[in-house]
Amino acid sequence: MTQVKITEAESHDVQAIADIAAEAFWREYGSREKAEKAFRDTVAKRWLGIIERRSGIVLVAKEGRRVVGFLVFRWWFGWYGWLEAIAVKEGYRGRGIGKQLLKTLIDKARRQGYTKICLAVDNKDPVSFYKKFGAKKFGELPDDKGDLLELYYIPLKEDNPQNKKSRR
Ligand SMILES: CC(C)(COP(=O)(O)OP(=O)(O)OC[C@H]1O[C@@H](n2cnc3c(N)ncnc32)[C@H](O)[C@@H]1OP(=O)(O)O)[C@@H](O)C(=O)NCCC(=O)NCCS
Repeated sequence: MTQVKITEAESHDVQAIADIAAEAFWREYGSREKAEKAFRDTVAKRWLGIIERRSGIVLVAKEGRRVVGFLVFRWWFGWYGWLEAIAVKEGYRGRGIGKQLLKTLIDKARRQGYTKICLAVDNKDPVSFYKKFGAKKFGELPDDKGDLLELYYIPLKEDNPQNKKSRR
């Protein structure tokens, strides 16, 4: 496992985060150039707002001072939150960094009172990565190209405490 430090992102981390996102998700934009523009501009502004207002949980994995992975999580509704993005820099994947990021999010979100981390994946996305954290499918949603996104949630507490009580 690579030695990295997981911390809450600060404003100055946002460009490094946007660059990792562009590298990881550029195919969704058709070209690397379009993805870099979108992530460095519109998306980076939104994520900066979340970091500055502390309206969600934005985590970075740092090796020394270098950002090598990140995730963005924000309120969705009720006590459910939305995992907007998680990515690890190419060359650093498969070394346990994604796992450390998600594990830290689960601890923090649970302490803040969240009961579910919800997320969407498309066919290429690593469902088995999320399943290691108990992710369960709860639906499907067409994306703008008409392909189906699969919706999952990671439970942060017993799904239905009433059932547990009545089983006793
Ligand atoms: C998905 C991602 C964040 C995982 O981070 P990572 O640091 O590579 O993952 P880890 O090394 O912590 O792996 C944790 C476990 O998940 C598994 N896993 C990781 N990536 C996987 C993938 N793409 N497919 C299937 N399993 C995967 C690993 O085998 C590992 O299993 P183990 O605990 O049994 O050894 C990273 O691969 C990435 O950035 N991918 C591109 C962006 C992306 O697809 N993001 C998710 C959609 S928003």
